[in-house]
Amino acid sequence: MEKILLLEGIHPNAIEILEKEGFQVELEKSAFNGKDLIERAQGYQALGIRSKTQLTQEVIKSLPELRVIGAFCIGINQIDLETSNICGIPAFNAPYSNTRSVAELVISEMIALARKLGDVNMMAHKGQWLKSANGNHEIRGKTLGIVGYGHIGSQVSVLAEAMGLKVLYFDILKKLPLGNARSMDSLDELLGLSDFVTLHVPETPMTTNLMSSHQLNKMKKGSFLINASRGTVVDIPDLVTALKTQHLAGAAIDVYPKEPDSNNESFTSELQNLENVILTPHIGGSTEEAQQAIGCEVAESLIRYLKFSFTGGAVNFPNLEVPMHIDGHRLMNVHKNVPGVMREINSIVSDVGANIRSQYLATDANIGYVVMDMEKGHFKEAAKKIAALPTSIKTQVH
Ligand code: NAI
Repeated sequence: MEKILLLEGIHPNAIEILEKEGFQVELEKSAFNGKDLIERAQGYQALGIRSKTQLTQEVIKSLPELRVIGAFCIGINQIDLETSNICGIPAFNAPYSNTRSVAELVISEMIALARKLGDVNMMAHKGQWLKSANGNHEIRGKTLGIVGYGHIGSQVSVLAEAMGLKVLYFDILKKLPLGNARSMDSLDELLGLSDFVTLHVPETPMTTNLMSSHQLNKMKKGSFLINASRGTVVDIPDLVTALKTQHLAGAAIDVYPKEPDSNNESFTSELQNLENVILTPHIGGSTEEAQQAIGCEVAESLIRYLKFSFTGGAVNFPNLEVPMHIDGHRLMNVHKNVPGVMREINSIVSDVGANIRSQYLATDANIGYVVMDMEKGHFKEAAKKIAALPTSIKTQVH
């Protein structure tokens, strides 16, 4: 059975799920890097990491037995995806496990902004009693504008409607409205109608400074801005101006153009000490439930790959959603994507008299990935010969 090494204190539910399937799992609390990582991860077929383990070209190439990478997080820039692709090693992450956590933070921030909770809380701690109804509002009946109606935006939409808000959204793609939400033709139209604007777009060249002075000025006077997407989406100096001039009544910001690398570094922002501005340290997706969901999602991807060669959802690899039951014996082969490989593979199978029941193939620019279910017979001989082809990168039988 395959051996799996999990680094960086991955959630214990991942270990439980993997062990239940019969895998031999070892856990390390910290990250390993460079030579230490090469030494520690030697001989394992699967490696689970979070954001602090750098899987560089040198590391990946020095782990010949490694078959699959599980990134128990959202980000994947700690993995050399090109090298792992060329080496025939798929990598899986958990892009949507923290969707609900972000959505809940946004809902709580709408109320917190409408009631100035950040400020009154701070003053009460300092001994000041600021009891007043002036400028405090319910969110019921107000209009929420959601920019980016993807996984998080659409969750916010459902929760907000349940609390009695009217929901408008703007997305560059045509998205099916949930509940009574209404799609807007332009960002400006949404900004002009919303009491709260929340941003849920990815970081792309198009979304850099998506909210700068022009768009902030299009927002209703006295409205609120929430950004728990990416730091580059809002022009911070322009937002500071909009807040200082009281065009906006407040903002809740979770992400910044420049964020500290760790909790030991201090954090500075031009938004500090402004009235009714809630600043959180990029915690939108940081909940125990999200960590648990990540543990579960990535562990299941590792199992699907190691047991069935299923690569659906892999971030660096041709996606093959093969059936999750094996008819006879399953052979998988990763090969260089050059002409004639499949002809060679099929002629080996036919030469050894093995019978193919089903065959699945997907390719990208560098590699081809083929999975075949074969009837019992000479499949081991076929696998040996296929593995020996000069074009073969990885071959495995189940
Ligand atoms: P998603 O990919 O499901 O949705 C993004 C949506 O934005 C898509 O529907 C897309 O068509 C739309 N979009 C792209 N460019 C646009 C533009 N210029 N104008 C309008 N719409 C545009 O992404 P998901 O999962 O909903 O995440 C949204 C953002 O939240 C991402 O930036 C992600 O990095 C961030 N995030 C932040 C977390 C935190 O801790 N604060 C945690 C998780 C995600």
